[in-house]
Amino acid sequence: MCGIVAYIGHREAYPVILKGLKRLEYRGYDSSGVALINNGLRVFKKQGKVAELEETLVGKDLHANIGIGHTRWATHGEPCDRNAHPHVSRSGKLAMIHNGIIENYMQLKQDLVKKGYEFTSDTDTEVLLNFIDDIHSNNGGELEEAIRIALKRVVGAYVIVVIDEDHPDTLIAARKGSPLVIGIGKGEHFLASDASPIIEYTKEVVYVNDYELAIIKSDELILKNLGNEKITPFITKLDMELAAIEKGGYDHFMLKEIFEQPNTIFDCLRGRLDAANGSITMSGIQQYAEQLTTASRIIIIACGTSWHAGLIAEYIFEEVTRIPVEVEYASEFRYRNPIVNKGDVIIAISQSGETADTLVAIESAKEKGAIILGVVNVVGSSIARTSHAGAYTHAGPEIGVASTKAFTAQLAVLTMMALKIGYLKGTLPEKRYMHLLTELNDVPEKVGAALLNKENIERIALKYKDATDALFLGRGYNFPVALEGALKLKEISYIHAEGYPAAEMKHGPIALVDNKLPVFFVATKDSFHEKVLSNMQEIKARKGKIIAIVSEGDDAANSLADDLIVVPYADELIAPIINAIPMQLIAYYIGVAKGYDVDKPRNLAKSVTVE
Ligand code: M6R
Repeated sequence: MCGIVAYIGHREAYPVILKGLKRLEYRGYDSSGVALINNGLRVFKKQGKVAELEETLVGKDLHANIGIGHTRWATHGEPCDRNAHPHVSRSGKLAMIHNGIIENYMQLKQDLVKKGYEFTSDTDTEVLLNFIDDIHSNNGGELEEAIRIALKRVVGAYVIVVIDEDHPDTLIAARKGSPLVIGIGKGEHFLASDASPIIEYTKEVVYVNDYELAIIKSDELILKNLGNEKITPFITKLDMELAAIEKGGYDHFMLKEIFEQPNTIFDCLRGRLDAANGSITMSGIQQYAEQLTTASRIIIIACGTSWHAGLIAEYIFEEVTRIPVEVEYASEFRYRNPIVNKGDVIIAISQSGETADTLVAIESAKEKGAIILGVVNVVGSSIARTSHAGAYTHAGPEIGVASTKAFTAQLAVLTMMALKIGYLKGTLPEKRYMHLLTELNDVPEKVGAALLNKENIERIALKYKDATDALFLGRGYNFPVALEGALKLKEISYIHAEGYPAAEMKHGPIALVDNKLPVFFVATKDSFHEKVLSNMQEIKARKGKIIAIVSEGDDAANSLADDLIVVPYADELIAPIINAIPMQLIAYYIGVAKGYDVDKPRNLAKSVTVE
C-alpha cells in the first residue's frame, strides 16, 4: 500500500509528482505530501486525499526540478498531518518517502532515542530515516553507503526514496518487497510504485528488484546491489496507453471497468482460444504440461476477490481434470507451516501482482521446490516475476479499488487452463471440451448482454440501498459468486453482507432473515437449480426479500422473487463470469446512491503490499 512518486530532470517536479500521486491514490488515500529541493528542502503534507494537499499548496512557490511525493495507507500511526510522508531527518537535510513496513523499527527507535533522537511521528519510516541519518552523520562519506548499511539491518519490506538538501542533483531509491518502477526520459527520470504516473512521459522503464539500490541523476541511472556492485539496468518497454488509466467519460473508474468487461474478456481469450479448431494456446501451461497433467494436487493461493476466483477455479479444475484442488488464503498458508513438496503445482492469482501475502507465500513454496504458475494482471509485477510460468489476464489497468474486470479475466484464464489440462489429460471428453470452448468464446457477448440490464439493476439497487445487512446465496459454481457479491457490497456501500452456500443458510444465517433483509440468490440454471429454488422457498416463508439472478427463459423463480435480474444462459461451468456482472453493478449503484467514493472506499487500498 501507499503510492510513491519522485522526479528529477528539467521539468517542474511538483506538477509531475502531483499528477502521479492522483494516479496512485488507489494505493492509499488517508494523507499525502511532497518534498522539493530548491535553495533548501521544503516539505508539505496534509491529512486527507491528494486534492486536499493540492488546495493547501495553491499560491505557494513550488519551483523545483527534484522532488518526492507520497500518498499513504496508514500502517504505523493514525492518518494525520504529522504521520504523513515525506519525513525529515533530525539533521533537517534528508527527506524520505516509504512504502512498506519496517518490522524491527521499535528496536531501532529505542537505540536512536538513547542517542538523543526525538520523533515527531508514530511511523516506522521516520525511524528508518533517522537510522540512516545517524549512520550518515557518524560515518561521513556518501549517503548511499549509509543507506546500504542501514538497509542491511532492516527487517521488513520497503521501497524508499531519499533526497538530500546538500545534493539536489540526486535521488536515491531502494527496494525490498514493495514495487518500484523507474521511467527513463531524455535528461530526466521518474520513479513510481507503478507505471501509471510515468506512462505519459516515457515508455522505457526499469523494474527495480529486491535488494537493489538506484542512484539517480537527471541523466544517469546507476543500479547497485547492497554489496555495492553495479548491476546493468534491464530496460522494458511499457505496453500501456494513457487512455487506459483515464475515466473516458464515465463517472467512476469502477463503472468504466465494469463496462469494459466484454472487451477485456475478449482480449484475454484472444490469441489463446480457438473454439472452431478446438485449441487453447497457453505457452506457460504448455511448458509445464507434463507436471500439470500428472500433478497429484493443485494448490491455489490468493486473497480477496482473487481468492474467490480461485474458489470457482477449484470447482472447474476438479470437474474437468479430476485433480484435487485446495484453495488457500495466502496469509494463512504462509504462516501455518504448510506441506509443500517438490513438484507440487501452485497457482497464484493476483490482479496487482504485488499482494504481499501472496508474494511471500509463493516465495516460500518456491524454495520448497513447488512449481509456481501466476495468473496476474499487472505485467512485470513481483508475483509475475516470481512465478515459473503462468498467464497474464490482460484486463488492462484496474484503477477502481474494487476488483471487477480483473476478476472476470482471472476466471477466463483459469477456465482455459483447466480445460486445456483436462483435455490433455483425457479427463475431459472431446465433445464436452468442444462445447465448453464455444461457451467460453460466447462470454464477451453474453457479458455485454448482461450489462444491458443496468437500468433494472440500478432500480433494484435504489430499492435496497438503505438495508443494513444483506445475504448472498448460491450453490456449486455460483457459491463463490455469492461470496464475491457480498464482498463487493461491503467494500463499496459499507452494508454488512455475508455470502453462503445456499444450503448452509439453514445452519445459522437463516436466523437473520426478516421482512427487511435483502437476500440475493445467484440462481441461474445449473445442476443445483431445483435445490436453490427450495432454499428460496425457505427464505420466502420467513418473509425475506428475494432478489434472484436467473437465466434468460427460466421463469421458475418468478413467483418467489421480489425482484429478478435476468442474465443470458451459459453452461454452469462458465456462468460465474456472467453472473458476476449484476453483483458488481448492484454494489456500484448502491455505493453511488449513498454518496460514497466508490473508486476509493474507506480504509482500503488497491494494492496490499503489507502482510
Ligand atoms: O491484487 P490482488 O488480486 O492480489 O488483490 C487481492 C485483494 O486485495 C483484492 O482482491 C481485494 O479484495 C479487492 N479490494 C477486492 O475488490
